[in-house]
Amino acid sequence: MKFSSKIQRCELSPVRKFYPYEMAAVEKGLKVRHLNIGQPDIETPRVFFEAISRFSDSVLEYAPAPGVSDFLTATQKYYESLGFHISRDDILATYGGSEALQIVMSCILDEGDEVLVPEPFYPNYTTFINITGGKIRPIQTKAEEGYRFATREQIEPLINEHTRAILMTNPGNPTGVVLTREEMRLMADIAKEHDLFLISDEVYREIVYTGEKVSSMLELEDAAENVVVIDSVSKRFSATGARVGAVISRNHELMNEAMKLCQGRLCTATLDQVGAAAMYNELPASYYTEVREEYRRRRDAMVTALSKIPGVEFRCPEGAFYLMVTLPVDDTEKLQYFLLEEFQDNGETVMVTPADGFFTDPQLGRNKVRIAYVTNPEDVTRAIELLGLGIQAYNARKG
Ligand SMILES: Cc1ncc(COP(=O)(O)O)c(C=O)c1O
Repeated sequence: MKFSSKIQRCELSPVRKFYPYEMAAVEKGLKVRHLNIGQPDIETPRVFFEAISRFSDSVLEYAPAPGVSDFLTATQKYYESLGFHISRDDILATYGGSEALQIVMSCILDEGDEVLVPEPFYPNYTTFINITGGKIRPIQTKAEEGYRFATREQIEPLINEHTRAILMTNPGNPTGVVLTREEMRLMADIAKEHDLFLISDEVYREIVYTGEKVSSMLELEDAAENVVVIDSVSKRFSATGARVGAVISRNHELMNEAMKLCQGRLCTATLDQVGAAAMYNELPASYYTEVREEYRRRRDAMVTALSKIPGVEFRCPEGAFYLMVTLPVDDTEKLQYFLLEEFQDNGETVMVTPADGFFTDPQLGRNKVRIAYVTNPEDVTRAIELLGLGIQAYNARKG
């Protein structure tokens, strides 16, 4: 059987490839602590489940292709509460931010087209772009500059006749970088001047520790034709299994094209949208602050614990719940296999995500890992302690 060259340009997720080794470690009786997956342990708000159990229609029908009416209204109101004015027609409900990305890429990319993406980046971007025949052109960043990317010098030399879009995660996964207002302005200016889509993946929008007011590229109304926001309830409400996201754009041409795909896949899950609408409608503003403060405690615990490991290099993350760390080892993938197969401390070991999959050139991530700090501060501290002991044992074994 023949498979498409497009699918062969896609890779399995680097976050999941250690799973069989993890299972083997668990079978040996080890407790495996996780710093590798962005699955928060914060409880999903009860209102999500309550709204679904109140649902009383006798037939679970298809929802309208653009989304359940209540969900669209609730999303619009949520944006309004942040000070961003969008109409219901500017929103298309999707199966998480993931489908939102796939839809947008399918609408804008042809074979050979390019998307500029600050590197390191969320690995699934490669899949969503490569499957269309397009490709990522990385915006190079430096660990020692905290992975900042928003300057003309870094971006403009990469723009050519194949460039269609800039795709960025703000707040950043895997870097924790949050753009300043000036940097956002610059990104919008570049997109406008070069007639590019500016796809702003804002699924971590509220998780910002800088004290700045919550931001969105939708603020830059003069770039309405360029800006496309990717949104999701997954991380905002710790509801990754709800599979509810959205494409948000004031570019009506784009939304009309995207509607073809939304109609083609008929709708996204009705009940999940009902639950998501309730979370937007019923949770008080304090919900977002409390969640942010909980992540801040986790971040602080992680930074304190990491600072105790000799030879690690990192910048304190400004947002989201990830960071890239440079480790004093030759190869972080080998380190991860070692941690699962040969290391333990008091019956425990730890998983991180080797960073090679976050770069177009895997070599650039060889001595780096991504850490996700999604569990309580005590667990984060112990997991980082295990990482430090693991590094020591790995380097001692290698001599
Ligand atoms: C940067 C980024 N974008 C999009 C997604 C997709 O999330 P979902 O499809 O659950 O909304 C994730 C998930 O981890 C992510 O980290």
